[in-house]
Amino acid sequence: MRKMADDQTRSSPRFILLFPVLALLFQAGCSDLQLNYYSKSCPKAEEIVKEEVMKLYEKHGNTAVSWVRNLFHDCMESCDASLLLETANGIVSEKTSQRSFGMRNFKYVNTIKQALETQCPMTVSCADIVALSAREGVVMLGGPHIAMKTGRRDARESHVAVINDFIPNHNDSMSLVLSRFQSIGIDAEGTVALLGAHSVGRVHCVNLVDRLYPNVDPTLNPNYSEYLKGRCQSPQPDPEAVIYARNDRETPMILDNMYYKNLLSHKGLLLVDQQLVSDPVTLPFVEKMASDNGYFHDQFSRALLLLSENNPLAGDQGEIRKDCRFVN
Ligand code: HEM
Ligand SMILES: *[C@@H]1O[C@H](CO)[C@@H](O)[C@H](O)[C@H]1NC(C)=O
Ligand SMILES: *[C@@H]1O[C@H](CO)[C@@H](O)[C@H](O)[C@H]1NC(C)=O
Repeated sequence: MRKMADDQTRSSPRFILLFPVLALLFQAGCSDLQLNYYSKSCPKAEEIVKEEVMKLYEKHGNTAVSWVRNLFHDCMESCDASLLLETANGIVSEKTSQRSFGMRNFKYVNTIKQALETQCPMTVSCADIVALSAREGVVMLGGPHIAMKTGRRDARESHVAVINDFIPNHNDSMSLVLSRFQSIGIDAEGTVALLGAHSVGRVHCVNLVDRLYPNVDPTLNPNYSEYLKGRCQSPQPDPEAVIYARNDRETPMILDNMYYKNLLSHKGLLLVDQQLVSDPVTLPFVEKMASDNGYFHDQFSRALLLLSENNPLAGDQGEIRKDCRFVN
C-alpha cells in the first residue's frame, strides 16, 4: 500500500491527467439528466405529455396551475415524485403535510401516466412527468417554453418530515425564504421570479385571515383588503370549505408580471408575497420584473430549470413506477 502511494506521488503527471476524469465522475449525479433522455426508449414521451397536458387544460384549466405547484413541492427536497405517493405500506404521503394544503388535480397525473404506459410501459418516470407537465403547464398559462432535461427516477419513500421543515410557510420571513432557495442553488433574483408562479391560482382563506382579522394588515391596499374581506368573511374559516381568493384578479390564469405590478400596489395576497416589496434585497428585482415581462420570463425559466434539476435520483437509484401513487 505504502509503496503504491509513493508511486502515485511520483507519477504526478498521470494524476493531473486523471483529475478532469475524476471531477466529471463526481458530477455524475447531475449530468445523468439530459435533453430528450427518452429519444430511444420512448421517442414520443415528451409529445405525449404535451398532448395530455393540453387535453386536460381544455377540460380543467386549473390542472396547468397544479402542475406548476407540483414541481415546487416535489423538487424543493428532491425531484423524485415522492410527492405523488399515497399513504400505504408504511409510507406517509407528502400530500398529508400541512404544506400541501390546497393542492389539487393529483388524479389527472394518472391520466398522463396511463397514456405513457400505453405507448412505453415502465419507461417514463413519474418524476419526469412532474417536470414535463410543469413545463407544458407553464406554456398553457402563457409563460415561456423551457428546455428541460429528463432522466429522473422515482423514489421508493416519501419525505413528509423534510417537507414540513423545508418548504416555507405562507407567513415565513423573506430571509428564511431566501436561505431555503439559496441552499438549493437558487439566488434571490431566481427566488423572486419563482414566486411569480403566484400570478396564477388561488389561496384559501385559512392562509389569509391573519392579515384581515382582528385588524387589517396596514400594508394591504384598502381596496384589495375590501375584496379579501368579501371573499373571506369569517375570521375562522372552515378549512374543508373551498373559500378562496385570487392572487391576481386581472389575469388570474396567465403567468405574467401582473403579480409584481400588484405587489407594488400593495395587493400581495400572502404575507410572503407582500414581503418581496418590503425586503430591500428583493424589491429591485420586483421593480424590474414589474416593468419587463420578458425579463420576468427569462428569470422564471432559469430558476424553474434549476429547481427541476434539484437532487434527482439517477442511474440505478430508485425505480420507474408503474403507478405514480404507489411504489412498485
Ligand atoms: C416561499 C415560497 C412559497 C410559499 C410560502 C408558498 C405558499 C403557497 C400557499 C400558501 C398557497 C395557497 C394554498 C391554498 O390555500 O390553496 C400557494 C399556492 C400556489 N403556489 Fe406557492 N408558495 C411558495 C412558492 C411557490 C413556488 C416556487 C411555486 C412554483 C414555481 C408556487 C406555485 C404555486 C401555485 C401555482 C399555487 C396555486 C395553486 C392552486 O391554485 O391550486 N409557489 N403557495
Ligand atoms: C403562521 O401561520 C400559522 C397558521 O397558518 C400560525 O400557526 C403561525 O403561528 C404563524 N406564524 C407566524 C410567525 O405568524
Ligand atoms: C381604490 O379604487 C378606487 C376606484 O377604483 C381608486 O380611485 C383608488 O385610487 C383606489 N385606491 C387605491 C389605494 O388603490
